[in-house]
Amino acid sequence: MKTHLISGGCGFVGRNMVQRLSSDPNNRVIFVDDLSVGTHPSTWLNKEQTKKVKDCEFYGDNLIFLERDFRFLLQHMTADENYLSKEYGIEIDQFDDVFHFAAIVGGRAKIDGDPMMVALDLSIDAEFFYWVTRRKPKRVLYPSSSAAYPVDLQSESHAIALSESDIDFKKMGEPDMTYGWSKLTGEYLAMITAKHYDVSVTCIRPFSGYGEDQDLTYPIPAIARRAANKENPFEVWGSGKQGRDFVHIDDVLDCTLLAMDKISDGTAINIGQGQLTSFLEIIDIFTDFAGYKPEIKPLLDKPVGVYSRYCNMDWVKENLGWEPKISIREGMRRVYEKHCSQV
Ligand SMILES: NC(=O)c1ccc[n+]([C@@H]2O[C@H](COP(=O)([O-])OP(=O)(O)OC[C@H]3O[C@@H](n4cnc5c(N)ncnc54)[C@H](O)[C@@H]3O)[C@@H](O)[C@H]2O)c1
Repeated sequence: MKTHLISGGCGFVGRNMVQRLSSDPNNRVIFVDDLSVGTHPSTWLNKEQTKKVKDCEFYGDNLIFLERDFRFLLQHMTADENYLSKEYGIEIDQFDDVFHFAAIVGGRAKIDGDPMMVALDLSIDAEFFYWVTRRKPKRVLYPSSSAAYPVDLQSESHAIALSESDIDFKKMGEPDMTYGWSKLTGEYLAMITAKHYDVSVTCIRPFSGYGEDQDLTYPIPAIARRAANKENPFEVWGSGKQGRDFVHIDDVLDCTLLAMDKISDGTAINIGQGQLTSFLEIIDIFTDFAGYKPEIKPLLDKPVGVYSRYCNMDWVKENLGWEPKISIREGMRRVYEKHCSQV
């Protein structure tokens, strides 16, 4: 039996990882979330709660949810290695895999609109790596982000497919707002943890992850629903020519788990399709599914972020032998069917 810890386990990536890992009966999964953004497991877990001890909910013996600010839990677990046993009767010698998805993420509106709130990620990550270096789980996954890449490589006049080597701590450009800076700092802490404390750490830089279980506050399902409703004219933030590298959550999880088997020194890898798709192209795909061609209405006062953010997947292909399996059209079709079947 392996015991894994997932922070931010009720958010988009976290709940997909909780479901993936808990489908193996040899895994015990403990997940933590303060539900500031995430949704309670009763809405997505499809399992009955069997026991509750204080703020800790058990879904059978091997699936345990703690509704908590992860920082407070880390402080307790750092101070007392038997904290979970004393507080909740959960016996653990050493965590096997720890996935750290708790973060203040938000979309463009939060990244540009409240950068100091997003900067709290620095405090979550600092507490996290401090605990890791005291209690030494077997393996750690740190999700960085494509936002850690220098923004001057993503402008309209100078956009390239971002390679892992475009982040070099000895020769730096400027990441995207406090979100990018905190992710870059997290990568640095990850590297120090692996090198100086001898813990296996893997960093990933997912590009724009999407999936059918995102709700309508996320851009991809929202565009899908508006297309199903035959919105016309179709509103888009900015010109719509800005592009991202959209990657389906199932591919993100596959690549993440493979990377943890192969990388232990804190090295960060890209996870994307390696393909730039503009928001106009996304609208085109969904309106094609819906069977109409709308007039486009650009909303030029909305925040749009960098012009072009996509990755070079050569390193991952050559060193991990991995490529995404779900094409943009296939992934968008899944989102459309999930969100638009009743429209
Ligand atoms: N989704 C993507 O495409 C993507 C891309 C790049 C990086 N990432 C990174 O992956 C991680 C997960 O992203 P996501 O898309 O699932 O975001 P999300 O917002 O859906 O999930 C984050 C979860 O963390 C929880 N949380 C926030 N602060 C907390 C705290 N102090 N204590 C406990 N829980 C807390 C939230 O309630 C939420 O459920 C983040 O670190 C994010 O930066 C995601």
